[in-house]
Amino acid sequence: MFERESWATRIGFILAAVGSAVGLGNIWRFPFQTGQEGGAAFLLIYLLFIFAIGFPAMLVEFVIGRRSKRNPIGAFKKLGYDKWKFAGAIGVLTAFIILAFYSVVGGWVLRYVGASITGSYFAEPGVYFNAISMGYDALLFHAIFMLATGGIVYLGIRRGIELAVKIMVPSIVILLIFLGIYAFTLEGAISGYSYYLSPDFGFIAEEWTSILPAAAGQAFFTLSLGMGAMITYSSYIDEDKNLGKDGASIVSLDTIIAVMTGFVVFPILFTIGIDPGSGGPGELFVGLGGAFAGLPGGEILGAIFFLTVFIAAISSAISILEVVVSYIIDNFRIDRKIAAVAVSTAIFLTGVPVALDIYWLEVYDELTALVLLPLGMFFLVVFVGWVYKEAAEELSKGTDTSEGIIKAWLWHVRIPMLLIILLVLILNLEQYLVEYAGIEPFLPI
Ligand code: TRP
Repeated sequence: MFERESWATRIGFILAAVGSAVGLGNIWRFPFQTGQEGGAAFLLIYLLFIFAIGFPAMLVEFVIGRRSKRNPIGAFKKLGYDKWKFAGAIGVLTAFIILAFYSVVGGWVLRYVGASITGSYFAEPGVYFNAISMGYDALLFHAIFMLATGGIVYLGIRRGIELAVKIMVPSIVILLIFLGIYAFTLEGAISGYSYYLSPDFGFIAEEWTSILPAAAGQAFFTLSLGMGAMITYSSYIDEDKNLGKDGASIVSLDTIIAVMTGFVVFPILFTIGIDPGSGGPGELFVGLGGAFAGLPGGEILGAIFFLTVFIAAISSAISILEVVVSYIIDNFRIDRKIAAVAVSTAIFLTGVPVALDIYWLEVYDELTALVLLPLGMFFLVVFVGWVYKEAAEELSKGTDTSEGIIKAWLWHVRIPMLLIILLVLILNLEQYLVEYAGIEPFLPI
């Protein structure tokens, strides 16, 4: 049998979970989703979703993980519900696809560390991004990113991860504050803030069928929910720890970092005259590229910024890869090292189309964030709400939270969360099929 490690300190667990949550989802995906979905309208729905659905959903994963002390697939068996293994299996598949495109974007970030030092993108940030985001350059950096991620999982160095996260989180906050102050001084600041902060409720009412699913997908993605990553992490927490409190710290920190990124990116985009709705996956790179070009010492600042984002991305990528590798180890009883090499290679190959043609980025990204994560979360919510009878008891361990609150959580999981996630799933499935399979819209809304 394998010896199971357990987190030495409460902070160790929180750090690792924060390392998983804070990543490209906050700094790259959040601003471009916000731009695509109308700015403030998206921000508002996103924040509502994070607190009303994301936070309680994180507790759903924590309950399964701590109770079973297993990876997502083994967990169901351990709890006595062997048939539910499929829910964990969806997670493993999702992890596989997410990492395939995540690594390509991680490769861009790495590329921008060097490109900042040489100032390569300073003259024409948009042109530079287009040149390196596809083709052999992108492929090379995708390979390096995957090699680094696979290497860390291969070595199994948890301590290295904890240390990296300890440095990464404060540096990212400090850099974002600094860049936020700079953005405040720009002439586009006011337009940027108003775009980001004053929601048009008429627009929300009209566009909710696209804003809600996008916000839900972003919330699950950024909190690492829906595929069992948080089941895996919480499987190492002791019974005397307060799951609600830890979950709240992780969710708050993750949200603060995403929201801060918006305060940097939007003023800059308005200053250099880029429509935030049109930036797409390049938004962060082109927007910040323009900023570093205009800042004294922009070379150093850009390099430090992208290096920090790279660390954030790697610590998240590890958590995604761990889900697949630990499944392979447990299921096929093969050596960790062989599993890490085989899985990393397969994920690298799956990412090749994305590196060669950015079109595939959206296909992979939307399949996972819009369809597979809500689908996985839906099953986890059904399981914890209706099938598994001891969820409330597990959540109440290690806390003095009143029984009433725990009960309220359970009923929230049972009905409102279940219905909202189901709605999101149906809307997303339609949107995805219309967009990529060419079928006619079939919903009456
Ligand atoms: N949350 C990470 C980010 O924002 C990405 C991530 C890590 C993830 N593990 C995950 C997303 C599990 C979904 C599921 O960058």
